[in-house]
Amino acid sequence: MGSPFRMSRSIYFYLALLPHQFPSHNLVIIFFACVGLSMADTPANCLYEDIRGTWKLHETERNGNHSISCDELGEIVHENTFTLEFPDVVKDELGNQGTWTMIYNQGFEVNINQRSYFAFSYYEGDWGSSTSYCNRTFNGWSRDVTIRNWSCFKAEKLAQVPPTFTERPVLTNGGQMYKNDENLIKKINIAQTSWTAKAYPEHENYTVEEMYLRTGGLASVMTKLLSAAPVSPELQATVASLPDSFDWRNINGVNYISPVGDQASCGSCYAFASVANLEAKLRIASKNQRQDIFSTQDMVSCTYLDQGCSGGFDYLVAGRYAMEQGVVSESENRYLGRDAPCTTSQAATRTYVKDYRHVGGYYGACNEAAMIEAIVNRGPVSVSFQVYSDFPSYSDGIYHHTGFVNEFNPFEETNHVVLVVGYGVEESTGEKYWIVKNSWGDWWGEKGYFRIRRGTDECAIESMAVEIDIIP
Ligand SMILES: *[C@@H]1O[C@H](CO)[C@@H](O)[C@H](O)[C@H]1NC(C)=O
Ligand SMILES: *[C@@H]1O[C@H](CO)[C@@H](O)[C@H](O)[C@H]1NC(C)=O
Ligand SMILES: *[C@@H]1O[C@H](CO)[C@@H](O)[C@H](O)[C@H]1NC(C)=O
Ligand SMILES: *[C@@H]1O[C@H](CO)[C@@H](O)[C@H](O)[C@H]1NC(C)=O
Repeated sequence: MGSPFRMSRSIYFYLALLPHQFPSHNLVIIFFACVGLSMADTPANCLYEDIRGTWKLHETERNGNHSISCDELGEIVHENTFTLEFPDVVKDELGNQGTWTMIYNQGFEVNINQRSYFAFSYYEGDWGSSTSYCNRTFNGWSRDVTIRNWSCFKAEKLAQVPPTFTERPVLTNGGQMYKNDENLIKKINIAQTSWTAKAYPEHENYTVEEMYLRTGGLASVMTKLLSAAPVSPELQATVASLPDSFDWRNINGVNYISPVGDQASCGSCYAFASVANLEAKLRIASKNQRQDIFSTQDMVSCTYLDQGCSGGFDYLVAGRYAMEQGVVSESENRYLGRDAPCTTSQAATRTYVKDYRHVGGYYGACNEAAMIEAIVNRGPVSVSFQVYSDFPSYSDGIYHHTGFVNEFNPFEETNHVVLVVGYGVEESTGEKYWIVKNSWGDWWGEKGYFRIRRGTDECAIESMAVEIDIIP
């Protein structure tokens, strides 16, 4: 079985455009509907209903430590049967209960009986064409709540789930230099007044392939998991008492947000959003006594929980990785912007989180109210959203997708991860927005930030928020 997680390192390029957008005589560019890579980091496409149900877990002896390798499974000494129920309840044969969550369409995490289990869903093939076998997993990792007692496992569902085949078209022009689309920019600026677009000369320094990685990359094919979670009356009441606008960059004149990073041409947005999340939480928890800058390269290079420059998830990196292994400062492993062997010293000082969760409790339970409650009461949350071709030319204002490209998109796809630091309401129009820190440098957008429509799940930005509790 080996380690599946590095295979997506060989980079494939795919367009998530509709057929009518590929005139056959001109396969040149329109690269930008960038749907996916940074987020859809393995080709697996397993949905909630594929995973829900009863699973048999085959687990090795619980005698490993946090450096355990699960490439080879070894002797099985524990057999557990877990039933994953709606919405996030897991039960074992004895009736013990715990919680579980999907990680997008990539795998699932189970927390029960003082242990936490995580595995990626099984697939064969690569990004070009792959088959997902959603009733089994790759080898995964299990550890107890003290994070000292580790084992490996694999799981199979006690039900038939038909394999699903996915094919994605290949990008043919990855080596060409990227060109700003002046026509698109004009169209955007004529069509609406909420935000303005402009051409960034900086972008023309990247190849199409590099811009692809920068903005999200590959197509993911998941369908919406659950419809937007209803807001409970308690949450409604809590949020009604919170301010109409809020910004962690200015809380009575104090800024709790670290500087904007630039991921360059690596699909590492999840690492930049993760450090942004951790850095903000640390500043808040320490009242700005600790202003650490954490290493994104360490996240790219040193964990099996992501796919390096081919993508990853803030839940697994800012959350699980930071809890299990801890994160190190930028000076311990400086950003290279490419895949590279892990060079972080074992002796490096580490910062840990004590807990992490999807806002709302599990993937599928997020909504605007839950995000506001988390942001005001505890701090910024990282979010995933869909980057469309109009987004990279954002200059200022309140972004919403203008729909000139990729007009038909029924899924809750997300491909880029960023940090929501606050929210507000535009005075003249009453339009509500989120304030979001991007990782494309401080020359992009509103000093590295953008504002985006709030309350309508614009580009799925209210579909998957992650919050962490840091140990200062
Ligand atoms: C790990 O925990 C199990 C109980 O779940 C215990 O039997 C075992 O001795 C522990 N191993 C170590 C190395 O602490
Ligand atoms: C972890 O386990 C490996 C082998 O199982 C061992 O070589 C290593 O010393 C252990 N590390 C720690 C920090 O205990
Ligand atoms: C999964 O479902 C398929 C049928 O779709 C079946 O052939 C297979 O045995 C099931 N179990 C596992 C572990 O693959
Ligand atoms: C493009 O890259 C070159 C070489 O690194 C640099 O000198 C130039 O300033 C860059 N242009 C822009 C617009 O960033």
